[in-house]
Amino acid sequence: MLARNGRFGSIVSMNRTCLLSLTGSLVLLGLSGSPAAESSPTASAQLTLRADQARYQINRNIYGHFAEHLGRCIYEGIWVGEDSPIPNTRGIRNDVVAALKAIKVPVLRWPGGCFADEYHWKDGIGPRQQRPAMINTHWGGVVENNHFGTHEFMDLCEQIGADPYVCGNVGSGSVQEMMEWVEYMTSDADSPMANLRRKNGREKPWRLPYFGVGNESWGCGGNMRPEYYADQYRRYNTFVKNYAGNRIYRIACGANAFDFRWTEVLMADVGRRMNGLSLHFYTVPSGNWGRKGSATRFEEPQWHSAMREALKMEDLVRRHGEIMDKADPDKRVGMIVDEWGMWHDVEPGTNPGFLYQQNTLRDALVAGLTLNIFNNHCDRVKMANIAQTINVLQAMVLTDREKMLVTPTYHVFEMYVPHHDATLVPAELQGPDYELAGQKIPQVSVSASRDKSGRVHVSLCNLSPTAAVRLTCEVQGAKVGSMKGRVLTAPEINAHNTFAQPETVKPSAFEDFSATQKGFEVNLPAKSIVMLEF
Ligand code: AHR
Repeated sequence: MLARNGRFGSIVSMNRTCLLSLTGSLVLLGLSGSPAAESSPTASAQLTLRADQARYQINRNIYGHFAEHLGRCIYEGIWVGEDSPIPNTRGIRNDVVAALKAIKVPVLRWPGGCFADEYHWKDGIGPRQQRPAMINTHWGGVVENNHFGTHEFMDLCEQIGADPYVCGNVGSGSVQEMMEWVEYMTSDADSPMANLRRKNGREKPWRLPYFGVGNESWGCGGNMRPEYYADQYRRYNTFVKNYAGNRIYRIACGANAFDFRWTEVLMADVGRRMNGLSLHFYTVPSGNWGRKGSATRFEEPQWHSAMREALKMEDLVRRHGEIMDKADPDKRVGMIVDEWGMWHDVEPGTNPGFLYQQNTLRDALVAGLTLNIFNNHCDRVKMANIAQTINVLQAMVLTDREKMLVTPTYHVFEMYVPHHDATLVPAELQGPDYELAGQKIPQVSVSASRDKSGRVHVSLCNLSPTAAVRLTCEVQGAKVGSMKGRVLTAPEINAHNTFAQPETVKPSAFEDFSATQKGFEVNLPAKSIVMLEF
């Protein structure tokens, strides 16, 4: 099911100047030779923000999410049913809706994942008690009662204010089935599928902006070769129609991590028939799928390797982007990183097929640096969907019956809201490395943007668990004026929120900065994410 290739590229980094260029690509300029970060608590970094060169918009969909019929994501996490004692609106938990609204989820991908390619949508409509059950073969072999289907998903999207992104079944579904689903959701005609929708209680069609033609077709979605999938894409996509003013942004199944050949074939064969091409990459802290490691019990070596692995996203986005540039120099086709995030061992005592894991400050740093990478490549990356929203993998929210908590990763998404649809401010960073056992990665990660009212937001991650950084910033093309700051950090690298102590990790006000003649100076605490506004 999870056929991961091991062809991971290496992260090149040693005390050097990094230019996050206008196009978002990382350019290494030279060595600076400062000592290793962990032995240098007073390490310094220089940042230049070129607000006068701000050009590309950070698509808010980079802050998208993914909810699959997997473990306790949909059932319990979102859907409790109308008769539940847990407060709900038409069966959907109110506490979860409120939490997701607060981070302004722009787009939600559903129903999978691997589940999408065994999902038959007609099983999930009509009176709930009459819906046929199925076996969720990928995820624990549990019986899926189909109580959460198309109507419930669209209701969820309306309740949280997110755009729906539906993934169709290419692996085990027919072309007719996919065609009829799109008609059911989006047609306003006096047609069989639109009338079936009306009979099931929804008069008006829904707006469906995003549709995926299959998921991981190289793996759980059918084990196809790229040439074969490209032909399947042509065929299925032909019947994904634009009804009644609904224009669908078509997303083709893209590569697994470093499978560059998949991208080459897809772009050459069907690049002109798609709007977006997906990419999947998970961060396994150990770099070893066989021994992923605990989400909460780890030491500095596992912290360092998690950051190292997560930074591979930079290499991936750049290299797939270069291939896309050859076929699509105008960058019409979006790179859609519709599955990413940390993948740990499941929590002890939980169903291995449910992928339930805790979420620590380490996950938050990985989220912060990954979102910085997407921001800096926003000329090509048009959407990303962290896996997954609730109770699965790197979740925003964890639930235990009526209880709910938000994770450190949730707080990063909340802190980064000002980047949604803002204009990327190119950033040039010269900083120290974070070195452990001879392995070096850049200690600081940054992205910056300017919003519609002219405010600039700078998100900075200090990846070192022990060393602070004094960062001096020159701002070109904008006045700093008054400044505000927030920080997410904790005393321990594995700090996390539990149902007994749900607020161990949460953001707080931050004031360790000052405006200077040319810009500002800031002291970044070890293992922290700082968001500055001026
Ligand atoms: O997110 C969990 C699984 O990871 C998805 O179902 C699949 O697409 C990927 O392999």
